[in-house]
Amino acid sequence: MTEQQFIPKAYSNTVESGKVTWESPSNIALVKYWGKKKDQIPENPSISFTLNNCKTITTLTFSKKENASDFEFDVFLEGEKKDDFKPKIQTFFERVELYLPFLRYYKFKIETKNTFPHSSGIASSASGMSALALCLMSVEKQLIQADAALSTVERSLDENYFNQKASFLARLGSGSACRSMEGDLIIWGQTDAIEGSSDLFGVKYPYQVHENFKGYQDTILLVDKGEKLVSSTVGHNLMYNHPYAKNRFQQAHDNLEKLKSILESGDLNAFIALIEGEALTLHAMMMTSMPYFILMKPNTLTIINKIWEFRQKTGLHISFTLDAGANVHVLYPKKESFKILEFIKNELVAYCQNGHYICDQIGFGAKQLTM
Ligand code: PMV
Repeated sequence: MTEQQFIPKAYSNTVESGKVTWESPSNIALVKYWGKKKDQIPENPSISFTLNNCKTITTLTFSKKENASDFEFDVFLEGEKKDDFKPKIQTFFERVELYLPFLRYYKFKIETKNTFPHSSGIASSASGMSALALCLMSVEKQLIQADAALSTVERSLDENYFNQKASFLARLGSGSACRSMEGDLIIWGQTDAIEGSSDLFGVKYPYQVHENFKGYQDTILLVDKGEKLVSSTVGHNLMYNHPYAKNRFQQAHDNLEKLKSILESGDLNAFIALIEGEALTLHAMMMTSMPYFILMKPNTLTIINKIWEFRQKTGLHISFTLDAGANVHVLYPKKESFKILEFIKNELVAYCQNGHYICDQIGFGAKQLTM
C-alpha cells in the first residue's frame, strides 16, 4: 500500500447535502508511539487496546457550495461553538485535501461530544480525529455511490478499504487516532514481526490472542485534569536528535516481537513487565529530551508504588500504563476485576483529582450511528 492508493478516481460532487454521525473510541498504547518522521510516519511500530467507553460522537452536516473555495466549517463541542478548535481542523483539511477532493466544494458543520469530560486530561484527539475521519469517509462514500459516471465496481467501496482509508486520514490528524477505527488490538507502524503492518494506517492484530486478554480492564485514574504542559506534538519533535532515540525505536520493535508471544501464551507476568517498562520508557524519553520535561505528578508515582505493593502482596495481575500525561491507566484481567476494583476504590481513588476515575475495558472500535 502507498499513499497513492488513497487518492480517489475523480468523482463529481452530485450530492447536495447530508448528515452523518460516527462514534469512535479512544485507545491506550501498550507499546508506545513516540517520535515521528515527516507526514506523521511513526519512527517505530506501536500496538494498542481499543477502549470501549471513552468515545467521541461526531455529526458532520454538509451542504454543497456554489463553487470550490477556501475550506468552510464550524465546530461545536457539546452545542457550544468552538473557534479555538478550528486551526487544528484547518491543518487537518490541508493535509487530507489531496485524498478528499470534495472538501473545498462543501460547507461543513462539525458537532462533537465526548463521553468523558473534556477537561479530564484524557486526550480526545484519538477519538475525535478518528470520528471526523470516518464521517468524511462516509461523505466520500455517498459521493462515489451517487456518481452515475462510475462503473458499478467503482461505486462499491469495500469495507476494508473504507476502514484503511479512514485510519490513514485519522493518522494525518493525530497519529494515534489511526488505531481507533477497529478493535480490540491494533498495530500501527511497519514491523517484520506483524504481517500486513503499515506506517500508513492501523491494522487489526492478526494473530492468536490468549483468553487472559479478552475483556481486559482499564480503570483510568484522573490524577491531573489540567492542560498538558507540553503537547505531544512538541514531545514527538524532541525525539529528533534525542541521545537515546535510536535505541528506543529499536526497543519498540523488539518489544512488539516479544509481545506477540506473550499475547499467544497468556503470560500475564511477562505482559506486565513489558507494558510497565514501555510506560516508564516513554516518560524517560521525556525526561531526557532537551529541553527536558516531566508530565507525571507526585500522585502518579504514589499510585504506581501502591500498585506494585498490592501486586507483591496479593499476586494479582494489576499493572499500569501511562500516556503523555499524569493520569494512570490501571490494566488488569477481567477475571481478577472484583478484588482489583475494590483496591482501586479503597486505596487509589484518593489520589485522583476530585476522586475522579473512569472504568473502561477493551472495545471493538467505531460505529456509524446515522447515515
Ligand atoms: O497521537 P499523538 O500525536 O497524540 O501521540 C500519542 C502518543 C502516546 O499517547 C504517548 C503514545 C501512543 O502510542 O498513543
